[in-house]
Amino acid sequence: MGAAERTEWRWMAAMLSLLGVMMTVIVVTSLAHALRPPSNVETIDPDTLHLAGEFVDSNLGSAREADGSVTVRLIAQQYSFVPECLTVPADTPIRFRITSADVVHGFLLIDTNINTMVVPGFVAEVRTRFTRPAEYALPCHEFCGLGHHGMWAHVTVIPRNQFPDLEPTGRLRCARH
Ligand code: CUA
Repeated sequence: MGAAERTEWRWMAAMLSLLGVMMTVIVVTSLAHALRPPSNVETIDPDTLHLAGEFVDSNLGSAREADGSVTVRLIAQQYSFVPECLTVPADTPIRFRITSADVVHGFLLIDTNINTMVVPGFVAEVRTRFTRPAEYALPCHEFCGLGHHGMWAHVTVIPRNQFPDLEPTGRLRCARH
């Protein structure tokens, strides 16, 4: 065997063992985590979302927390977001909490790094802070069925001082038709 051939075999062995390591990582992690989303693993029963708990209709929209931050709760379902339009203040810690009532949907604010899958049975959570007032389109970006292309919501970021002083049970959501 020539020197070139020996080198080729050595490289081939190195690549194959690397491949073996990567396959092992994929198999072990997918089995150990049962293919669940790896971050914020928080489960919820998608069949009873509307009936009780955090995602009942009256609790959806923007809520003011005691520490001044804002939590936005919404549901993704075939083929809309509930509520379809959201208002949040700028310069404020924002926490989006979103779950699905049926199949896998996507949650993406165009022109930002906010991007997550919305998997039924799990609550997806995204924390952010908007630096200035803006309008963001929020398309579902996971194919979820025939009406997928029409599944959009909108987020309006308003100046911090224009955001209303909500009661602890008050929720801000706009009526869009
Ligand atoms: Cu919901 Cu695509």
